[in-house]
Amino acid sequence: MDSGFPYKRILLKLSGEAFTVEGKTGIDIHRVRTIAEQVKICHKNGLKVSVVIGGGNIFRGMPAAEGGMDRATADYMGMLATMINAMALQDACEKIDLITRVQSAIEMKSIAEIYIRRKAMRHLEKNRIVIFAGGTGNPYFTTDTTAALRAVEVGCQVILKATKVDGVYDADPKKVPDAKRFLRVSFMESMQRRLRIMDSTAIALCMENNLPIIVFDIFKENNLKSLVEGGKVGTLISSAEGLEYA
Ligand code: GTP
Repeated sequence: MDSGFPYKRILLKLSGEAFTVEGKTGIDIHRVRTIAEQVKICHKNGLKVSVVIGGGNIFRGMPAAEGGMDRATADYMGMLATMINAMALQDACEKIDLITRVQSAIEMKSIAEIYIRRKAMRHLEKNRIVIFAGGTGNPYFTTDTTAALRAVEVGCQVILKATKVDGVYDADPKKVPDAKRFLRVSFMESMQRRLRIMDSTAIALCMENNLPIIVFDIFKENNLKSLVEGGKVGTLISSAEGLEYA
């Protein structure tokens, strides 16, 4: 069955905030379960699924560094936070019969296997969900950059960037009431307009490797389901020139 969704191998980028309720920190088990169910929908649609999770619900490196903490130390703490989220997602996925493997960029032998690209590819070929934890393993890089890097490394055809908004707007919709949403926009255009979809390292990686990004709202019910079934959801950022409004 052709769903109309043109990608077979996807990388789902989740922010740590997706794991908690608005205004809170830590992990909300129900939230994690809801996300696991969405991962299952992707899997059921025949997609090979990789996941990269942020850690902002537990610890944010940047503000801690701005507050005076050593930047590298703060970033490592953030990377450890992503492992806690990865373990929570793995547990929730396995509760609904999804087979998963967590791979960490930082060696933590007793809780997860280390990131090995060829092994990750093998897991994907065996239809396992691969959750990449520990960021890139290096400070000064975001989990968006991790998502772009891992997606390129394991041959994903698109990054699905889950956010709290339903796409990319030409102005901040919270401040500008008539801000318009893009249906699609080119990498070039997004940079010229300073749309800040991801940090510049992540965008550069995607652009150089012709890897499209779809920004969508993961909190809207059935949104990811409609997206992977070929629906017009969110905003597509790609190498295709120009832009189109929703
Ligand atoms: P294939 O052999 O390709 O089918 O992959 P596999 O992941 O089933 O085989 P493997 O024997 O490598 O792993 C079996 C289980 O052990 C999986 O759940 C892995 O995630 C886990 N595992 C593998 N290496 C490590 C490790 O270094 N540390 C920890 N904690 N778990 C590991």
